Amino acid sequence: MGVFETDGNDASGHEQVVFCQDRVSGLKAIIGIYSTALGPALGGTRFYPYESEEAALADVLKLSRGMAYKNALAGLDLGGGKAVIWGDPATTKSEALLRAYGRFVETLRGRYYTACDVGTYVPDMDVIARETRYVTGRSVEHGGAGDSSVLTAWGVYQGMRAAAEHTWGSPTLTGRTVGIAGLGKVGKYLVGHLVEDGATVVATDVSPAALEWASTTYPEVNLVPDNQALIASDLDVYAPCALGGALNDDTVPLLRAKVVTGAANNQLAHPGIGKLLDDRGILYTPDYVVNAGGVIQVADEIEGFNFDRAKLRATGIFETTRRILQLAGDEGVPPAVAADRLAERRMAEVGRLRSIYLN
Ligand SMILES: NC(=O)c1ccc[n+]([C@@H]2O[C@H](COP(=O)([O-])OP(=O)(O)OC[C@H]3O[C@@H](n4cnc5c(N)ncnc54)[C@H](O)[C@@H]3O)[C@@H](O)[C@H]2O)c1
Repeated sequence: MGVFETDGNDASGHEQVVFCQDRVSGLKAIIGIYSTALGPALGGTRFYPYESEEAALADVLKLSRGMAYKNALAGLDLGGGKAVIWGDPATTKSEALLRAYGRFVETLRGRYYTACDVGTYVPDMDVIARETRYVTGRSVEHGGAGDSSVLTAWGVYQGMRAAAEHTWGSPTLTGRTVGIAGLGKVGKYLVGHLVEDGATVVATDVSPAALEWASTTYPEVNLVPDNQALIASDLDVYAPCALGGALNDDTVPLLRAKVVTGAANNQLAHPGIGKLLDDRGILYTPDYVVNAGGVIQVADEIEGFNFDRAKLRATGIFETTRRILQLAGDEGVPPAVAADRLAERRMAEVGRLRSIYLN
């Protein structure tokens, strides 16, 4: 794929793509800036052993575009960007490589803010921050927001409340049965919110340690052997909180839940799955809308992190999900399409204001 090519859905294309190399440390990075219509581009750095340069480029183009939509719907004054470092983090990550990367981020003078993603962690952001101001997701000791899964789970819960209101008339999970696939960083916090709200929780995880945690901390949670058993359970809500692609041609026909709301990124295995869910009368709240609490948390760091302010913004995911479900109904389209339309509208309408000259 060429940088100037588009994928057919993509009317505008990326604003800027930057290739960064430091031979001595072994750094090979690509920073993709999809849009700065709403402000500096924010998105994490994925450190991954791609099989080719083309695969790394394709991923950064896809991920940076996704961040523009996510940040727009999260109500942030931030555009969308993302970066990939091509290599195996287990063998190639070093202080020198991360600092070299930080210096490249700095050269963009704030057009791009980085953060954690697959293969990069809070301590890595602290190292990168030694070379650039344009990094979020640092540790609390370094003025950062710390673990973003706290507000990710809170936002997912808010999205689920909006879906419950849309489906059953009341914004609560009291008396509902919610199935969580994945009791990791986000899933664990989500269990707490649901139990507190009076829901019955059924859950699964492939990790024995996660299951052990659940049975000790929340003995009332019903644990089932695997995801297959979970989706076949008598659920009101299914919450994919593990890996992407949870909703696919095999799982959707078996799903008994009326609502799908979860933290996992890229839950739909392919775009046709949105229609399949719609045809089966299953309400799907788009993943990038309801899991935006994490980006809201790290974005807040740019202003000087304030947990209460960030939580208030993440609570806004309730209202955003509501608007999307309303728009989907009004326009007769699946919620995923309505969400994209709303994001594009905000990028166009608010982004246009930059044409008003300020001196
Ligand atoms: N952490 C965040 O702030 C954040 C923000 C936005 C989106 N997300 C997305 O939410 C999802 C969960 O994130 P996390 O931070 O909790 O990750 P995590 O790695 O801490 O937890 C994932 C959990 O899923 C389990 N798992 C893996 N495969 C499974 C399977 N087939 N069936 C059941 N369980 C399985 C793992 O054992 C693990 O406990 C990911 O898709 C992530 O990209 C996370």
